[in-house]
Amino acid sequence: LRVAVLMGGPSAEREVSLVSGRECAKALRDAGFEVTEVDAGPDLAQTLVQLKPDAVFNALHGRWGEDGCVQGLLEWLRIPYTHSGVLASALAMDKARSKEVFAAAGLPVVTSVLASADEVRQRHVLPPPYVVKPNNEGSSVGVYLVNEAANSPPQLGPEMPATVMVETYVPGRELTVTVMQDRALNVTDIVTTGWYDYDAKYKAGGSHHVVPADLPAEITAACLDYAERAHKALGCRGISRTDLRWDESRGLDGLILLETNTQPGMTPTSLAPEQAARAGMSFADFCAWIVEDASC
Ligand code: DAL
Ligand code: MG
Repeated sequence: LRVAVLMGGPSAEREVSLVSGRECAKALRDAGFEVTEVDAGPDLAQTLVQLKPDAVFNALHGRWGEDGCVQGLLEWLRIPYTHSGVLASALAMDKARSKEVFAAAGLPVVTSVLASADEVRQRHVLPPPYVVKPNNEGSSVGVYLVNEAANSPPQLGPEMPATVMVETYVPGRELTVTVMQDRALNVTDIVTTGWYDYDAKYKAGGSHHVVPADLPAEITAACLDYAERAHKALGCRGISRTDLRWDESRGLDGLILLETNTQPGMTPTSLAPEQAARAGMSFADFCAWIVEDASC
């Protein structure tokens, strides 16, 4: 099977995607696939028409690659591709819309509003503590935490989009669950000394992962259940990874669903491959399964 691995692209998560893509390309070669690495630029459509791969492994993250755009192109070209389709990708990447879907499915989400970045710079749109983030980026790019004691609103940088999401801060432990073909694999507890930001995500030793997370059985079961239901509610395909937070002092009521990632990171410090490994699947087997699940 000839597989084109799409990576890079123009999003804010370009560097993360290059790492994910190279890791997956190498693993797929080890698994016996014929692999072409494609840095997704403006000529992507022509490149794919020339290559005519049997399948595309989509290792893009963020806008254009994870939000339904590339998925639409691949549907148009009739090339089977990995991970979620157009609709699920678009819904999951839009944090406000995906929350509406989660709430309709009876899943616990936290209060948030969309506001103009200018307004957010001028006044507290929600009572602190709250978090400000782009509505459609990943990897904690452009995330601002406004703590309880903050007198003034956050000085958002000029790189922030015109409309941003403002979300009540959820205290507690950072948990994540990978879903593979509608079944949750495991719960990981992400232990950091500070905020689980870009550096904590991708620098070796930036965070410490406990798999399976040491949690009460009721909380573990709820995490697995919420992740499976989130995956199904959005209509995801292949793998997804759902991020949650748990405030221990509030028991089950303290468990909140933050978001579902339709193109989870595949870097050496990433969470989904680690959960697959715990389930007895090597990285090469995991990547091979993802490719075999490709469709259009
Ligand atoms: N957005 C990054 C790649 C992740 O969710 O793993
Ligand atoms: Mg994310």
